[in-house]
Amino acid sequence: MSSRISRRRGTDSQRLGRPHTDRPASEDEVQNATYDRIAPLYDLLDAPHEYGWRRRLRGRLFDGLTGRVLDAGAGTGANVPFYPPGAEMVAVDASPKMLARAERRSAALGKPVTVQVMDLLKTDFPDAHFDAIVSTFVFCVLENNQQLPALREMRRICKPDGVIKLLDYRLSEKPLLRRTMEVVSSWSGWAFDSRYRPTTEAYIEAAGLDLVESRFVFGDIVKLLILRPSPAPNPPARLV
Ligand SMILES: C[S@@+](CC[C@H](N)C(=O)[O-])C[C@H]1O[C@@H](n2cnc3c(N)ncnc32)[C@H](O)[C@@H]1O
Repeated sequence: MSSRISRRRGTDSQRLGRPHTDRPASEDEVQNATYDRIAPLYDLLDAPHEYGWRRRLRGRLFDGLTGRVLDAGAGTGANVPFYPPGAEMVAVDASPKMLARAERRSAALGKPVTVQVMDLLKTDFPDAHFDAIVSTFVFCVLENNQQLPALREMRRICKPDGVIKLLDYRLSEKPLLRRTMEVVSSWSGWAFDSRYRPTTEAYIEAAGLDLVESRFVFGDIVKLLILRPSPAPNPPARLV
């Protein structure tokens, strides 16, 4: 098997079921307790969405990516089947239990990947390390005040000519669907620490990134953002 797992910072955080707030993100606080708890059930609970529509979107995200590619917040490895052949894949997540599943999946599918438990807000990677960074359904889990640190960290570890692709939920503008999502979000907030209102776009410029593309790819509830590092002479330093 070609995958490797290593344990990094912040794996003892206690965030179980805590509602989203705007209080400052602590350095050692990462989203692992909720996901360690849900890990054994995650794929089962997600299966209707995964096989109903998500897999189709995942395939398109990785198309054409080459070089060193990061799956940021890889979870149980739902993206693994779509890792491009020949790319040097790295998968990180704050939850060791989610990542252990990703590792098993990569082994079963014969998809080589280096797997590391790591906080996306403060990774151990050197500057300009990745040709591409892909993150699926992760920013909807981050606190409002974690959006900018996460984007800035991605900007730091992305090569100047690299690309960052974010796929995430948005709350529908259609009244019935919006209401349904609001109701469901009480459950998803408890089970997945997830919400449908990530404020990512508000921080793109401050993170030193350019928005290349922004479009809905599933109704008006899943949006793809394609970002590139701005050609700033002095890239912003890490916030946390
Ligand atoms: C909704 S799951 C999505 C998993 C996977 N990307 C997918 O598409 O199925 C969110 C993942 O983000 C991870 N996560 C949340 N905050 C994180 C952080 N600060 N650093 C690393 N991973 C984080 C969680 O542990 C969880 O596995």
